[in-house]
Order: sequence, then C-alpha cells, then structure tokens
Amino acid sequence: MAETKTDPKKLFIRTYGCQMNVYDSERMAEAMGGQGYVETDSPDDADMILLNTCHIREKAAEKVYSELGRFKDLKAAKPDLKIGVAGCVAQAEGEEIMRRQPMVDLVVGPQTYHRLPEMVTRVDNGAKAIDTDFPSEDKFEVLKNRPKARRPPTAFLTVQEGCDKFCAFCVVPYTRGAEVSRPADRILREARDLVERGVKEITLLGQNVNAYHGDGPDGTWSLARLIWALDEIDGLERIRFTTSHPNDMTDDLIEAHGTCDKLMPYLHLPVQSGSDKILKRMNRSHTAASYIALIERIRAARPDILISGDFIVGFPEETDADFEDTMSLIRAVGYGQAFSFKYSTRPGTPAAERPLVDSAVASDRLQRLQALINDQARDVMERMVGREVDVLFEKPGRLAGQMVGKSEYLHAVHVQAEGIMPGDLRRVRITEAGPNSLAGALV
Ligand code: 5AD
Ligand code: SF4
Repeated sequence: MAETKTDPKKLFIRTYGCQMNVYDSERMAEAMGGQGYVETDSPDDADMILLNTCHIREKAAEKVYSELGRFKDLKAAKPDLKIGVAGCVAQAEGEEIMRRQPMVDLVVGPQTYHRLPEMVTRVDNGAKAIDTDFPSEDKFEVLKNRPKARRPPTAFLTVQEGCDKFCAFCVVPYTRGAEVSRPADRILREARDLVERGVKEITLLGQNVNAYHGDGPDGTWSLARLIWALDEIDGLERIRFTTSHPNDMTDDLIEAHGTCDKLMPYLHLPVQSGSDKILKRMNRSHTAASYIALIERIRAARPDILISGDFIVGFPEETDADFEDTMSLIRAVGYGQAFSFKYSTRPGTPAAERPLVDSAVASDRLQRLQALINDQARDVMERMVGREVDVLFEKPGRLAGQMVGKSEYLHAVHVQAEGIMPGDLRRVRITEAGPNSLAGALV
C-alpha cells in the first residue's frame, strides 16, 4: 500500500531517572498523540526522538550528550528526523544543549511539556523550539483529555512536584522548581479514570510527596487525607507513595500506615547519611537519632513495614568516622532495600563549593555500604520464605507458564500457574528467595 499523508508519525521516547520522568513521558506521548504521533519502541524508525532526561548526578547528565552523539548517524540518514531533549537536563542547560549538539531541534523543561504540540508544529516548520519556563497554567489540566486506553495494573500519579528543602547537594529545587501540590479533586478524578482503565495500584509521586498540601473541598489536605480519599475508590486495591522526607512524616501519615488497608507496608524514606555533622552540612534538618526514632514510631504503627532509603557516600569532608556513623545507622534501621550513590558535584548547589573526598576512598565506602545493604535486603527476602503474601500480577515471566507480580512489600514474585491474568491479586506462599526476586505458589 502506498504511503499516504495520514500515516501516523512515529515517536520514540527514552526515559532516564526517576519515576516522575516515567509519568511525564507518558503525558508527553499523549500530548504528541494529539499531533498524530504514535509511539515506537525503536529509534531507528522514529520521526521524532525525545530524550526525557535526568540531571540528579553528573553521570546522568553526561549520558544525554553521549546518547545524542549516537543519534547523529540516524539524523544524517534521515534529515527529517526531529530530536528533542526534555526533562531536568533541558531545564538546567536550556540553549546550551543546542550549542553542544546543533542537531537538537527542541528543548522542553518538565514544567512546559503541555506546550509540546505547538512546539512540534514550529519544529515541523523548520524552526528550533526552546521552552524552559515555570508557567502559571496547570500542565496536568491542559493534558487531561487523554485517550481512554486500557492500562497495565500499576500506574504512577504525580500529586506534588518540586522541592523547598534545598539539600546542599541536590539540583531538584532548581530543575523542578518550588514545591507545588495539585488540587485533591483533580488527583481523585485522575485516579478514578486510571481505575476505570484497569489500574489496581497507584503510586503517588512527588519529589517531596509527604509534604503534599493540596486544596481539598474542605480546606488543605495532607497526604494522609488524600490517601484516605483514594482508599474509598472501588476497584483501587493498593496505594503507595514516593519519595518522602523524614521531616514531613506527619502523625496522620504514620497512623494511616497502621490503619489503611490499601496503603502498602513499604516506605521509601531517604536519610542520606548517619553522621550528624554531615547531615547538618547537607542541610537535612534532621539527625541520625531523630530518623531512627521516627522509624521506630512507623514500625510501632505497622510492624512489618519494609523500609527503603537513599544514601550518599563521599559527601564533601566526610571522614571515616562519619562513614562509620552511616554504617551504624543502617545496622540500627535494617533496610529491605536502598539506593546508594557516590557524591556527585552539581554546579550551582552549595555543596559544590566544598572540598571533595578522594574518589577511591568514596568508591571503597560505597562498596562497603552496598554490601551491608545487600546483606540486609537478602535477609529480609529469606525471611519471606514460608510466609503468605498478596501478589498483584503484572506480566508473564521469562519461563513458559510463569507470571510475575509484586508483593505488598514490593518484592518481585514469580509463580508458575495457569490462568493468572495481569491485574489479578492472589494469595501466594513464598517457597524460595533468589537474589532479586521471590518464587512462590498460589495458596
Ligand atoms: N550526588 C549523589 N547523589 C545525589 N542524590 C541527589 N543529589 C545527589 C548528588 N549530587 C541522590 C540522593 C537522592 C537521590 C534521588 O539521589 O540520595 O535521595
Ligand atoms: Fe533534593 Fe530530596 Fe533534598 Fe528536595 S528533599 S532537595 S528533592 S534530596
């Protein structure tokens, strides 16, 4: 069949970084759908390539430029191919991206991607387009009329964006801007829409999600209040949220962990360091002891909760003793999972002015920290063997007849059984703990 003008153009999006970028990429794909673009999973047959980027650490930002370099040949072979950079690198670097990589046609920040359609029109007409504003209109409202397609059983939903905490190492307050909460009614409407389309589990997203304070019908709502409203949606089985700051773990949220059945027993609560000296220099405004006391209160409300965290090693002027304090905190808390990073200098942040720790020393500390966390995580998984958990199945596994889903503790669980469909929530007895996942049998 001959190609006609109505053949859809193809959009390839590559997403880096956090879950909020995953959510944003979905919204961008929907916005581009209105412009006649359909998604493709290969850059080779794309008419437009969009990199949704992350600026949190130096490596993440540099990846963008090396990836762009790789698209050079594609663009040479197909001059009509458009290349766009979205996300936090776009926000932080703006025009600089086009200076370093002139083949980039479009640069769009995280707060302006609802303007993508008009930007793409400009680009299609041969112009370049840059937009890294922090506009006053609500991008989520502009994008709300999305197609009613069926969805996988788990979904992200952004409820809050930006951050006012200004940790000394972090670019988020600069790239994502000030802390803003979406109004509760819009979040509930989006959640109901997701559930109508087959979603069983919603993860509420925000850079500082537990600081949520959105307009509700009867005044300002906390995250806990929002969770209780979501709890009333029939068909929604599970609620999660990420990422939280220790100072915003309010009493009502801790209590909800004990009393709200749909709120899953998993909490990602970054601490970054266990040294009070370093925490102070990080501008974290909590201490190691106050964090440990907080974890104890959360465990009193929900004894089986799985705690996850983030750690930075080699923050400027971190001594061996400071690092040992971090190791002690990890032993005191007992993590089920954690993400740990070597400190990475981010230009423009206060910590960028401070003397660096020797890179080899920092790498060695990171290795030791990760070994301890891995031991703890494996321990938690091994203790699951023999227990019954609820698994929300998501997709077929690698072996024939196998399905994979997540337990309430966010462990991946494999089950060999006929007739399980994505979206099914079933009771499973854990029979085996592997390095990265559990195996079990239907009860
Ligand atoms: N260097 C290393 N890790 C960082 N993070 C944020 N900024 C930096 C940085 N400059 C880590 C923190 C944060 C996670 C998302 O990324 O641990 O919680
Ligand atoms: Fe960055 Fe999180 Fe600190 Fe905000 S609270 S500045 S997002 S590390």
